[in-house]
Amino acid sequence: ESIEKGGYPHFMLKEIFEQPRSIMDSMRGRLVAENTQLTMSSIREYENRFKNAQRIIIVACGTSWHAGLVAEYMIEELARIPVEVEYASEFRYRNPIITEGDIVIAISQSGETADTLAALELAKSKGALIFGVCNVVGSSIARATDAGAYTHAGPEIGVASTKAFTAQVTVLTLIAMMLAEKRGTIEKSALHQLMMEMEQVPAKVEKALQLDKEIQAIAEIFKDSSNFIYLGRGLNFPVALEGALKLKEISYIHAEGYPAAEMKHGPIALIDENMPVVVIATKDNSYEKVVSNIQEVRARKGRVIAIVTEGDTVIPEMAEFVIEVPETHEVLVPLLSVIPLQLLSYHIAVMRGCNVDQPRNLAKSVTVE
Ligand code: G6P
Repeated sequence: ESIEKGGYPHFMLKEIFEQPRSIMDSMRGRLVAENTQLTMSSIREYENRFKNAQRIIIVACGTSWHAGLVAEYMIEELARIPVEVEYASEFRYRNPIITEGDIVIAISQSGETADTLAALELAKSKGALIFGVCNVVGSSIARATDAGAYTHAGPEIGVASTKAFTAQVTVLTLIAMMLAEKRGTIEKSALHQLMMEMEQVPAKVEKALQLDKEIQAIAEIFKDSSNFIYLGRGLNFPVALEGALKLKEISYIHAEGYPAAEMKHGPIALIDENMPVVVIATKDNSYEKVVSNIQEVRARKGRVIAIVTEGDTVIPEMAEFVIEVPETHEVLVPLLSVIPLQLLSYHIAVMRGCNVDQPRNLAKSVTVE
């Protein structure tokens, strides 16, 4: 087992550090930025269905559902197709309205999650085109779909998903870009620029991973907290949910992810000098708004740990701790902003003596209802 861990103390840490490669592997052969070229044969095969899709419904569970939320923002922004993201377990039991013009994307690392499989079977019976984004080749979900694109994250052993998430987001970004190109909703120059940035992501993730020691020091300070709040807006809202999920899964600390502006409708009541608040505040079009959310937290003595874009000079003045991630295209930020959150939860869990790779009560894949 120690050989399989490749010198890392846990699979989770190994998998976190594998992300530059797993993201690269998930793009390989699909993106040639220099020629503004995107290839995904499964989409080409159903080109007209995708081009004319009335709606895309994404079904998934857990971390895969968070990747779906990221995709919702990206597909709507780039390809202008309405997207709904559903918990597979809810979708399958509420007599959903599905038509033949719909495309259902099922996202699953294992390809074996019972609820996701049942949700896609239901959608299939109503005539929707079913597209899978799975990591495990030949898995039940991969076999049940009409078409799909594998994530090439490699085997993920740690129960808490890390590299599978970023691989899913990578593949979904490529899908959003392809749909935008086919539907003519993006200028060629803008697409080219986005693709050039996308190619840089693995190197930038590598750089973000160098924050490890810095994050370990922050983990040391907050390891005994009983609660955490994670805030983000836009594409960083699902990242906030994912950061909170990672922390609760492996450290058993109660954590809530919230859209930053929604904080004032509830969670703000929880904020006092004992509440760590992780705010994802990278430079994007909601930046100014997030800055005021940080001020609201500070005014109530909350302890702010901010994830910012490299070179930010404003937030370091107001946040107690600042973690800088490299600058990238707005759409690609989740691939970088999630990295420090994975590391933070990992270190806190290790410091609390938790079984990081196999947390209590959780299974890597939930094959029964
Ligand atoms: C379980 C795992 C999670 C995972 C979820 C969905 O709860 O512990 O890490 O996100 O299932 O799994 P899937 O294989 O469908 O992505």
